[in-house]
Amino acid sequence: RGKRAFIAGIADDNGYGWAIAKSLAAAGAEILVGTWVPALNIFETSLRRGKFDESRVLPDGSLMEITKVYPLDAVFDNLEDVPEDIKTNKRYAGSSKWTVQFLKLKRFVGAGIGGQIAFLTSPWNIVCLEVAESVKQDFGSIDILVHSLANGPEVSKPLLETSRKGYLAALSASSYSYVSLLKHFIPIMNPGMFLHSIIQQCGSSLSLTYIASERIIPGYGGGMSSAKAALESDTRVMAFEAGRKHRIRVNTISAGPLGSRAAKAIGFIDTMIEYSLANAPLQKELSADEVGNTAAFLVSPLASAITGAVIYVDNGLNAMGVGV
Ligand code: NAI
Repeated sequence: RGKRAFIAGIADDNGYGWAIAKSLAAAGAEILVGTWVPALNIFETSLRRGKFDESRVLPDGSLMEITKVYPLDAVFDNLEDVPEDIKTNKRYAGSSKWTVQFLKLKRFVGAGIGGQIAFLTSPWNIVCLEVAESVKQDFGSIDILVHSLANGPEVSKPLLETSRKGYLAALSASSYSYVSLLKHFIPIMNPGMFLHSIIQQCGSSLSLTYIASERIIPGYGGGMSSAKAALESDTRVMAFEAGRKHRIRVNTISAGPLGSRAAKAIGFIDTMIEYSLANAPLQKELSADEVGNTAAFLVSPLASAITGAVIYVDNGLNAMGVGV
């Protein structure tokens, strides 16, 4: 069978997660998606209404299929973590009359209605542990885990003006979320086997990082630069731990600037894109597909000896010492 991928952090067709999904689908993978709860409804509706059909087109002319969308909030690991105000938040608890019943069941239910899948969420099924459990129940196992999400409530504040709460929130949503996802998904990831000293069918995992982890990028504040530094360090340590135990590879792509929804919220993305155009060795706009294609390579057997790596996909901007 083809490989099965779970991609956490897709809520529209503009971001890196979507482009990675497309590249993996084009290579024959089955696509499962984890979508942040506040964005779930609109993503699911847009998908159903064909709003993304144009961007679903794969190189062979067929449309990318998303087998299932799971509600996810990657800042929660276990049921006990979900605070009271979230449990009673409408966007999380759902607003249909079904909700009470499903809340009682304390389970995520995807119910077939009129031939469409309707997703009814409850705050109990969005945590990392439960999402992995749901994927296990539905599909048994996965081969590829992609973490393409980040959040820093104080991102527009300089680090020296960032509160402890904001800093920890950035780390929680953007760094620990990956540790938690991988930890909970590893038990259902197909472990690698050595055959003639090449890893066969190796489970593989990937995240997205940004050069602000290692160079000063004014404007990428709120502890987000710290969060990316943690993500990159964790990539190395998890590559060791998951590699030794399960022969699973763990890498991260340091991507150049893209005008995604998340990036636009930061506010300086256009400047970053212009800066890259003016200063990178390759003076062209970076397309999300180029990151998607690198992701497809990294999770494939072609990259069987690559783990614990930060791979730059940024038109070479990282290699510059000064802007010219
Ligand atoms: P995006 O907006 O497409 O993706 C971010 C996703 O994170 C959104 O779908 C959002 O709903 C989700 N999210 C936020 N908090 C969440 C939570 N608690 N639980 C689950 N999902 C949550 O934007 P983009 O830019 O494609 O981001 C994807 C990754 O790429 C991020 O890690 C980002 O830092 C990284 N990146 C982006 C660059 C850019 O210029 N856009 C440059 C380098 C890295």
